[in-house]
Amino acid sequence: MKKILFLAIAAALIPATNAFAQAAPKHAGIESKDYQWAKMEGEMKAALDTKGNVKDGEDAYEVCGACHLPSGAGRADGTFPQLAGQHSTVLIKQMADIRAGTRDNPTMYPFAKVLTDPTELANVAAYINSLCIPLDHGHYEGADAAKQVSMGKELYEKQCAECHGKDGDGNKAKFYPVIAGQHYKYLLRQMTEIRDGKRRNANPDMVKIIKAYTDAQLVAISAYQSSMSMPGAMCKAKPTAKKKG
Ligand code: HEC
Ligand code: HEC
Repeated sequence: MKKILFLAIAAALIPATNAFAQAAPKHAGIESKDYQWAKMEGEMKAALDTKGNVKDGEDAYEVCGACHLPSGAGRADGTFPQLAGQHSTVLIKQMADIRAGTRDNPTMYPFAKVLTDPTELANVAAYINSLCIPLDHGHYEGADAAKQVSMGKELYEKQCAECHGKDGDGNKAKFYPVIAGQHYKYLLRQMTEIRDGKRRNANPDMVKIIKAYTDAQLVAISAYQSSMSMPGAMCKAKPTAKKKG
């Protein structure tokens, strides 16, 4: 079973030989006049109304761990976002949007698709919520990090804190993601896609703000976001191995 899973994921990650590629549905998002952000209906509403079962969610998460890691830490290089620490409401909305084709994610779509029903979305979100928050994540690595972080902080507090919170902890009831503790390169990619209209499930009020940003401002604001630590129950530090002799 594990081997098959691995092969399936390896195949999905190589676009040229993508045996698992299948046309993901494309559902109108911000490009459409009729788009209603976070409309409470269908699968998303049903999953939000269901109390997830952590144990069942653990089984469903097995396939996810291949990319997002069993710990939910994702990858510091930004290919896969950290999921541990994210609000369950955000996890559910993003999964439902990816499944419906309002958020394009061809890499993950074949795996998101196999979740059977709203209950399984609620279960997997409950399981992810039970994970401790990894101690570290990908940061901006440039020599001018301090300068970028302080430029980013100024912009963030003026234009983003209102929704994502001063400490980056988002808002569970309103589907505003936790952005503190997320990987720098993932944040920068999302910011760029939001600005360029490519993250089609984004909140229109946010898009209006980010549309005006230059590439340099996106770098600074992503550097600042990734300088914050994710709020919540952190994982315990591993005891440092004793040196021999
Ligand atoms: C083949 C790799 C892969 C697998 C397997 C996978 N994902 Fe993902 N997932 C991704 C990628 C890549 C992204 C980010 C895409 C982007 O940059 O927009 C993502 C994004 C997400 C997001 C949005 C996070 C955010 O902060 O907005 C959620 C939630 C998520 N995945 C949950 C899951 C769950 C639950 C499963 C298992 C059912 C799963 N993923 C399986 C690759 C994968
Ligand atoms: C009106 C509230 C609002 C404002 C203002 C806002 N955001 Fe957002 N942001 C959201 C919502 C809601 C989402 C999730 C979008 C969706 O539904 O997919 C989001 C998503 C994001 C993401 C992607 C997170 C992930 O896990 O994929 C990043 C990064 C982000 N916002 C950064 C910012 C920054 C930086 C600013 C300020 C320049 C900002 N936002 C302003 C509401 C807001």
